[in-house]
Amino acid sequence: MTEKEEFQKTCNVIPDGVQTLSKMPCRHVEGVYPFYIERGEGPYIFDGEGKKYIDYPCGLGTILLGHNIEYVNQAIRSQLKKGILFPLPSRLETQLAEKIVELIPCAEMVRFVKTGSEATSAAIKIARTYTDRQNVLCCGYHGWHDWYNITTQINTGITDYYKNLISRFTYNDIESLKTQLNKDTAAVILEPYIYESPKGSFLEQVIKIAHENGSLVIFDEMVTGLRTIHGSAQAFFSVKPDIACFGKSWANGLPLAYVCGTRTVMESLQRCFVSSTFGGELLSIAAAIATIEFWQKFGVADYIWEMGNILIREYKNIAKKYNLNTSISGLPCRTFLNFPTEEHKSLFWQECLKRGVFLGYAQFVSYAHDITVINRTIAVMEESLAICQQAWDEPGKILKGKTAQATLRHKVFEKENKNDEHKRGSAVGINKRGRPNRSGSSEQFDGSPENTLSTDPGRSIAISEGTSNQ
Ligand SMILES: Cc1ncc(COP(=O)(O)O)c(C=O)c1O
Repeated sequence: MTEKEEFQKTCNVIPDGVQTLSKMPCRHVEGVYPFYIERGEGPYIFDGEGKKYIDYPCGLGTILLGHNIEYVNQAIRSQLKKGILFPLPSRLETQLAEKIVELIPCAEMVRFVKTGSEATSAAIKIARTYTDRQNVLCCGYHGWHDWYNITTQINTGITDYYKNLISRFTYNDIESLKTQLNKDTAAVILEPYIYESPKGSFLEQVIKIAHENGSLVIFDEMVTGLRTIHGSAQAFFSVKPDIACFGKSWANGLPLAYVCGTRTVMESLQRCFVSSTFGGELLSIAAAIATIEFWQKFGVADYIWEMGNILIREYKNIAKKYNLNTSISGLPCRTFLNFPTEEHKSLFWQECLKRGVFLGYAQFVSYAHDITVINRTIAVMEESLAICQQAWDEPGKILKGKTAQATLRHKVFEKENKNDEHKRGSAVGINKRGRPNRSGSSEQFDGSPENTLSTDPGRSIAISEGTSNQ
């Protein structure tokens, strides 16, 4: 049976064959990319045939230290022997919450959940309870739950009423927020950065005008947490929201997310209902404590930032050398490659994959992506862009698979940027409901943590084993 036939069998029992829409074959170059990944080791992932790739989606941003990191594994194993979930809280929960309170400026209290969508939904509920208001202004992507999902292109199955409660504003456009704030606004929620840094005092202004209006500010730091120098965008940019949501990378791939905030705001949880069976699941909590310890001991964010800066600099150089209309955006820990068409991007992905670099909607650098891995990536990107240059006028001619479709998250952001309605600050347009086809300024950082890395367990694992197709 071919892998494609196998995947068809998967689709018989799992809708679209995936649990996360961005893993659908149509989001990659179908016909070229593998359908399944078998395992990961350090910065690498391996497909069913044992082919090894440098991993840039990094578990959709969850893999912060690298795959299969012994320091974290050991914490998980040790907790496994003691048990996973009990009828009363474990002291580990307090230990993790105290670490978070130390690390995250706005955090005085913490509630653990399992996913980012749960964390943002809890944050909205807390803000609505605290302010006794209903409406939300958002910017960016905040998960699949109804209060937010109504604003996106795939929004069937949600009561239409929700569209009255939420509007979008545009990142770095304070007017688009100002014109929409009113006495019904409970909260303004945004990712503190995505594609670009906040311009001037944008984040401070968001907080100021929201507070003047009696509204709370929620930072969605699902991606920026631990990947940003100092552990959060709020620490990096020295701004303090009322509530913040974190997830993805905190347990290096195990499911853990949380909502945190100032004491007075978080005490609203005594009046509203946020409660989850798995909220106190201890393998993830033990993994999170180990991940934070590792992160602190080895200067993980600084290192990731340094490697990401090299990737940004070198990609820009290559694009210039080949005189191609392609660019790289984002901050060093999460970058995006931009091409004139999806077909150009797909051809680039195809050529990188052939040479052992697995790209997706964003490049996340993990701590296991050391300089050797980054240099190999840059060499592969150069070879791939050279091929793209030759086919620039007709990339489809040498594209062997189907053109990759942009992810929903990407589309949401593009829409925000392109749609003048939003720039003028009007309420969100509710789009035609539909599903994708199944098959179908970086901050320069000069830290040099090399010396501290020589005895580092993550690094030695990162460069071990595996069949290579590079
Ligand atoms: C900024 C942001 N918020 C929320 C979410 C939702 O998180 P989850 O998929 O864990 O529910 C994501 C997921 O990609 C995200 O990037």
